[in-house]
Amino acid sequence: MGYNLKGRSLITLLDYSPQDVRYLLDISKQVKAESRSRAKFKRFEGLTLAMLFEKRSTRTRLAFESAFTEEGGHAIFLSKNDIQLGAKESVEDTARVLGRMVDAIMFRGFKQEHVEILAKYSGVPVYNGLTDLCHPTQVLADLMTIEENFGKLKGIKLVFMGDGRNNMARSLMIGAAKMGMDYVVVSPKELRPDEEFIEKAMEISKETGAKVSFTDNVEEGVNGADVIYTDVWASMGEEDKLQERIKMLKPFQVNEKVMEMTGKEEAIFMHCLPAVKGQEVTFEVIEGKKSRVWEEAENRKHTIKALMIATLL
Ligand code: CP
Ligand code: NVA
Repeated sequence: MGYNLKGRSLITLLDYSPQDVRYLLDISKQVKAESRSRAKFKRFEGLTLAMLFEKRSTRTRLAFESAFTEEGGHAIFLSKNDIQLGAKESVEDTARVLGRMVDAIMFRGFKQEHVEILAKYSGVPVYNGLTDLCHPTQVLADLMTIEENFGKLKGIKLVFMGDGRNNMARSLMIGAAKMGMDYVVVSPKELRPDEEFIEKAMEISKETGAKVSFTDNVEEGVNGADVIYTDVWASMGEEDKLQERIKMLKPFQVNEKVMEMTGKEEAIFMHCLPAVKGQEVTFEVIEGKKSRVWEEAENRKHTIKALMIATLL
């Protein structure tokens, strides 16, 4: 085929073309089928992945570590209590040491700048496992889940409700724009994505035929939605804002009434997880038959494995 992403990092989805995303989703489908048939491979034999965590994680750590290990690789978990990253040793120096010892690096933390420095100085592929700015590997799993449900991405109406300025709302906006989707953020005006990213999404949409819009009118925003997506009201690192957010975001909770307002029986509910049931989403919706959150969580592993296959082999 001649198409590959060997040597590439995934810092933000902005760096990936729609064709690159398509390529990753196709490999994801293949590795999911392999997993269902219990086929075993040793694609990462002899390779080492360093996983750096400043913030907690269940899905991202498990996805990277289990995907890499079952393919014969060795994944090393390093929390901020284990290494010097940014404390006694600069991120640049840490990156240069890691680059001489491992084949790939995953980083979850606060600053986007740190994941950029790791990529620049390590010389090996670096995967952004979530920063305050974005969460690109989550978007790959979300796109896969949407495509599995509707058989396509183009033209699908994806509505993000809640904290529209967080890493998920921003990353989904870029992913949806790249794949020609109809993306709507339903949030208070103060919690819309930042202008810089809106402009980027608009620019991409011109080429892909996507639509990106914003509203604080729930009924209007969710009308005709195929997917209702939400995320926590206070992301990691901003727990002190929770009380203020609860007040602001109460009208933007995803509940059964919101799912009905879509006017589509086949509309689905998605959430990157972890969820706070009773805040951004009701128990009935997340546990109900429209919820796809567990498929979505599983797809983290398949898409992450696909990303590593495409960039390491
Ligand atoms: N969705 C997600 O990234 O989950 P974790 O925080 O558990 O990794
Ligand atoms: N917005 C959330 C996503 C968690 C996967 C956070 O950053 O905490």
